[in-house]
Amino acid sequence: MTRSVEAELPVWPPVNAARGPFALLAEDEQERYAAPVTRVRLPTGATAWLVSRHADVRRLLRHPAFSSDLTRPGFPLLRPLPPQTAEDGKGSFIRMDGAEHSRLRRMLTAEFMIKNVRRIEPLITQTVDRCLDDLAAVGPPADLVSTFALPLPSMVICHLLGVPYADHDFFQAHSRTLLSRNEPMERVQAAVRELQSYLRQLAQERLAHPDAAADDLLSRLVRERVEPGELELDELVGMALLLLIAGHETTANMLGLSVLLLTRRPDQFALLRDEPERVADLVEELLRYLSIVRTGLARVATEDVEIGGQLIRAGEGVIVLIALANRDTEVFDDAEGFDPYRQAHQHLAFGFGVHQCIGQPLARAELRLALVGLARRFPDLRVTAEPEQLPIRDNAVVFGLDVLPVSW
Ligand code: HEM
Repeated sequence: MTRSVEAELPVWPPVNAARGPFALLAEDEQERYAAPVTRVRLPTGATAWLVSRHADVRRLLRHPAFSSDLTRPGFPLLRPLPPQTAEDGKGSFIRMDGAEHSRLRRMLTAEFMIKNVRRIEPLITQTVDRCLDDLAAVGPPADLVSTFALPLPSMVICHLLGVPYADHDFFQAHSRTLLSRNEPMERVQAAVRELQSYLRQLAQERLAHPDAAADDLLSRLVRERVEPGELELDELVGMALLLLIAGHETTANMLGLSVLLLTRRPDQFALLRDEPERVADLVEELLRYLSIVRTGLARVATEDVEIGGQLIRAGEGVIVLIALANRDTEVFDDAEGFDPYRQAHQHLAFGFGVHQCIGQPLARAELRLALVGLARRFPDLRVTAEPEQLPIRDNAVVFGLDVLPVSW
């Protein structure tokens, strides 16, 4: 493709804060990205394919010829990759393929299985209650993000990992920097290094002072994997960093957006209190409709593959738009509408295939317990700003709200 033709390509992701928190694309953008497979230009100047149909997304995410390794040539980065050292990316299995990926992922699968998450539900409920107490003590009015939506998943993942929550200002600020697409590369790299050295210190303390009774994930992985020589300390650090970031930024944003959506529909907010047995389905529809990983999942083809009638050549980048797949009318009737009674289980908000979110049972439990807890304790909760006035975190890997002013 010549340079001038490339310059004409639509840019992904589109920058348009005016679309508000619920529309995935503004009206004038919809046509630009309407084709099942669209060629786009990325902020780095590179080009990539956007794939947006539910069936194509599933096929692609299951296909072994698409790599998650962001150091491969052609990988569709949304910001330039800082120069990588041998240590970078160690343990971060979200960016690995094949046996390398499954070796590390397998060490965590049991941890996040539904039956094990069920065991920690009392801890989640306790944490929900504690955050609700804090909300009551602060307001009304209050900011729901900083007093509830962010602390809750953050406290839970800290507890599971064995990271002191007292350090939350440090790691929350650094995770934000890491996930932002606007931060200069040097700041992103510095944030990664600081988080790594923080977690390395925690892991080293466990190595130096083993406590056979300690039941947090860091202690267990040190005892069961690092000490026998199955896992390097730096790999453990990378895994812990991935869990720490993925474990709170995602659920926090889902909670903020869910509250904004549900409080605008008082009958649906009341459902949480009056019919808590419906909450599991409601959470699936929230995941589908809000689809917080809106910029998509990035992959690079390692072989020529045809997807949605388009030949994607080896070395070409692909952005998999799970958010648009979640509004595919072939799969979801009235896909643009929010319907708490819909069976939305086919949504792809947690991805699909080998990298499908390992934390989904935990995220689901947190969302269910948090939303029901909130509706019971604050039945008159309301958001005191119009959705269009709220600052949207549109420049981040995970979409969400920075603040959500509420009253009751
Ligand atoms: C992977 C979404 C919560 C840990 C993913 C992926 C998505 C996703 C779309 C796939 C990435 C890809 O294919 O490239 C979400 C959403 C969440 C959530 C929407 C909340 C509502 C969590 C939580 C944790 C977590 C609570 C940790 C406890 C991970 C990890 C991976 C992952 C470790 C990488 C899995 C792999 O590569 O094998 N998540 N996530 N996530 N998520 Fe989540």
